[in-house]
Amino acid sequence: MRTPIMAGNWKMNCDNDEAWQLASAIVERAGDVEGCEVVLCPAATALTTVQAAIEDTVIRLGAQNIFWEEKGAYTGELSGPMLVSCGCQYVIIGHSERRGRFGSVADDFTPELQQVFGDTDSSVNRKVKAALSYDLTPIVCCGELLSERQAGKTDEVVAGQLRAALAGFAADQVARLVLAYEPVWAIGTGEVCEADEANRVLGLIRGIVTECADESVAQRMRILYGGSVKPDNVPGLMDQPEIDGGLVGGASLQADSFCELIEVAAEVNSG
Ligand code: PGA
Repeated sequence: MRTPIMAGNWKMNCDNDEAWQLASAIVERAGDVEGCEVVLCPAATALTTVQAAIEDTVIRLGAQNIFWEEKGAYTGELSGPMLVSCGCQYVIIGHSERRGRFGSVADDFTPELQQVFGDTDSSVNRKVKAALSYDLTPIVCCGELLSERQAGKTDEVVAGQLRAALAGFAADQVARLVLAYEPVWAIGTGEVCEADEANRVLGLIRGIVTECADESVAQRMRILYGGSVKPDNVPGLMDQPEIDGGLVGGASLQADSFCELIEVAAEVNSG
């Protein structure tokens, strides 16, 4: 049995006061939860605030991005040692928004401007390598655009992103990852992927992990679904055999809704 994970990706939300309040409210209801790992991924500016709020609880801290070099002239970037010094144990890598691939985006956010988020398959691979070298657990994301799904390319896109992310790692390194399938068209749009379709793609991902590592690593790998996970759809998602939890944006910004997700995941796990 794989222990599920609920990871809250707060994205560019919550100043320090708000982060303290949100993390404290989650601690109050889920600070000693059993049967589900809980990870909070606030903006970098709130990492130490959230770490203080979750101290002495089972809740863990994650960052939303990492740069692969240890230090140097990389304005605006954050290194593994910096994240570790804030208390991070996890880091989200290759989120579609960091690849410049958005589920919903403002009209004036042109393709050229979307390049400010410049992650590519090879930068994702380097970031995973860096995270592992600092003992951070990468939550590696993959997922297709609506246009790619409509063109019948979902499996090809997901497999391509994953193979690139995992390239060059030994089985014992792959074993330290968490993966997340996030169809881009379902992120922040309210449009959730049908649970059985999400389960199908996660099965495909597990097959790729078998190829890149081995069967036992694949069977132990936690693979999350992300994209408009909410209290009303989480029971159906968590019922699927391949889905080991959620990477949650919008619904992680309210303590009540996020704690409901945690409780459903923990209950499914215990049943
Ligand atoms: P959402 O975001 O839950 O708001 O759709 C998920 C994510 O981007 O990780």
